[in-house]
Amino acid sequence: MIRKASLEDLNDIYNIEVSSFDTPWEKVSIEVEFYKDYASIYVYEVDKKVVAYIITWLIGLEAELITIAVDEGFRRQGIGRVLFAYIKELYGKNILWHLEVACKNNSAIQMYKSFGFEITSTITNYYGDGKNAFRMILSPK
Ligand SMILES: CC(C)(COP(=O)(O)OP(=O)(O)OC[C@H]1O[C@@H](n2cnc3c(N)ncnc32)[C@H](O)[C@@H]1OP(=O)(O)O)[C@@H](O)C(=O)NCCC(=O)NCCS
Repeated sequence: MIRKASLEDLNDIYNIEVSSFDTPWEKVSIEVEFYKDYASIYVYEVDKKVVAYIITWLIGLEAELITIAVDEGFRRQGIGRVLFAYIKELYGKNILWHLEVACKNNSAIQMYKSFGFEITSTITNYYGDGKNAFRMILSPK
């Protein structure tokens, strides 16, 4: 089940964040997203347990996929796809989507490509640790 996140979900979101990324966001940085009127935070629950989350921004007709992560034990079950598809539908059709993803993150890149995202550029040292990122764009249809 997908639902809008509340601050009560912060610990669960943070735990998934920490186990999903080499350089995870600080908990407070996730918390700050709850106070941005252009940010959306949704979670995916299985048996009332939060197993995935997505943070996106919508400013005008431009949306940014800020982050998405699925608990390791629940990956490759279609949850990431369903979660992004839900927000994409929520924001509507005439939206230009963009995101940055680590060049080595093949799982995520494959998922984004399956939605029609295309790589438009490479950003050197995007994460500040020598790792590069791709910028990807999904144009409105
Ligand atoms: C990227 C991520 C969110 C995908 O979530 P998921 O629930 O496992 O993905 P899904 O099961 O919905 O798969 C959707 C598509 O993603 C791609 N994909 C997912 N895992 C993959 C893997 N291990 N290898 C290759 N492609 C993969 C496939 O195209 C897949 O479609 P398919 O199953 O029809 O082949 C998940 O791997 C994750 O949380 N990774 C760690 C956090 C992260 O890197 N987030 C992205 C930050 S930019």
